[in-house]
Amino acid sequence: MKYCFLKDQHNGLNMTNEQKVKELTDQTQSHNEEKEKMYRQLKRVVCICKGISLSKFLPVLKDTDNTQDVHEKVGSGDGGCQGRRCSPRVEQLLVKSAPLRSDSDESS
Ligand code: FES
Repeated sequence: MKYCFLKDQHNGLNMTNEQKVKELTDQTQSHNEEKEKMYRQLKRVVCICKGISLSKFLPVLKDTDNTQDVHEKVGSGDGGCQGRRCSPRVEQLLVKSAPLRSDSDESS
C-alpha cells in the first residue's frame, strides 16, 4: 500500500515535470519561430536596385516622415529605377511606423 502511494506520488511528480518540460519546450520553440520570422522580415529587401533590406530602414523610419529624407539617409531611391519600386514601399513603411514617431514626439 505504501509502495503504491509512493509510486503514484512519483509518477505524479514525473508527470508534472514532464508537463513543465513540454510547456517550456513549446514556449522556446514558439519563441524561436517568432525570432526566425522577425529575422526573415528584417532581411526582406525594400530597395531591389541597391539591395537594401528592411533592417537598414527601421532606424531611420522613427526619425522622419518624408520619403525623400529616408532615401537620403539609407541610400535608396537612386538605383536603376530611380525609386519607382522602393518609394511606394518606403511610403507604406512610413505609414506603418507613424505610431513610433508620435510616441517619440510626446516623450521629447
Ligand atoms: S528599388 Fe530602390 S532605386 Fe530601384
